[in-house]
Amino acid sequence: MKKILVIQGGGRPKGNTAQLVESFVKGAREAGHQTEVISLMKNEVKGCLGCNACRYGKPCIQKDSFNGLVPKIKEADLLVFASPLYFWTISSQIKAFIERFYCIAQEDPAPPLGRYEKYPVKDCALLMTSADDFFWTFQQAVSYYQFALIHYIGFCDKGMLLAGGCGDTNGRPQIDQTNHLREAYEFGKQIYSQK
Ligand SMILES: Cc1cc2nc3c(=O)[nH]c(=O)nc-3n(C[C@H](O)[C@H](O)[C@H](O)COP(=O)(O)O)c2cc1C
Repeated sequence: MKKILVIQGGGRPKGNTAQLVESFVKGAREAGHQTEVISLMKNEVKGCLGCNACRYGKPCIQKDSFNGLVPKIKEADLLVFASPLYFWTISSQIKAFIERFYCIAQEDPAPPLGRYEKYPVKDCALLMTSADDFFWTFQQAVSYYQFALIHYIGFCDKGMLLAGGCGDTNGRPQIDQTNHLREAYEFGKQIYSQK
């Protein structure tokens, strides 16, 4: 049993992204994992101010939901980032949330080249939806995910589900007309199964 924390950053209530998350969570729960979904629409998390108070032993000075989420982040085995594709990348809510990892970094006396601090050891995964479905549609988002979360922070990638072709936001969500909900369910169910 793993503890899975899904951070949902944006998207309409009951929209494509919310439905993708719901299917993923259903699969993960059926596989016996403990899951919790945090919506960044309901829990505001602002971007880092760069004040560096956290580098002097203080909690983040910002009065928003992040400090309250820190224990959940630390307890989780897997962090799942869920976002609609907005202007070819992750939503600003997810980006702001990732910026705040700055305050959970710890001093590392011998960091590897290009990393300056130690981050908690976690698995992570990415769930995204978009209107378009070209081979380049998710390129920027995937590049950021891989660069910032996997290569820099050092999380272990458990995979991505890039759900293209879900229709634009000028109308009802159309993800139910694709295979992505089934794929998300299977992704959640299989994420820790041995291959
Ligand atoms: C501000 C905004 C920007 C968007 N940018 C893109 C984009 O760059 N590429 C794309 O394919 N779809 C784009 N879309 C469409 C959404 O990614 C797509 O409809 C998504 O599935 C909406 O998720 P939701 O139903 O959870 O709200 C954009 C939508 C909005 C509102």
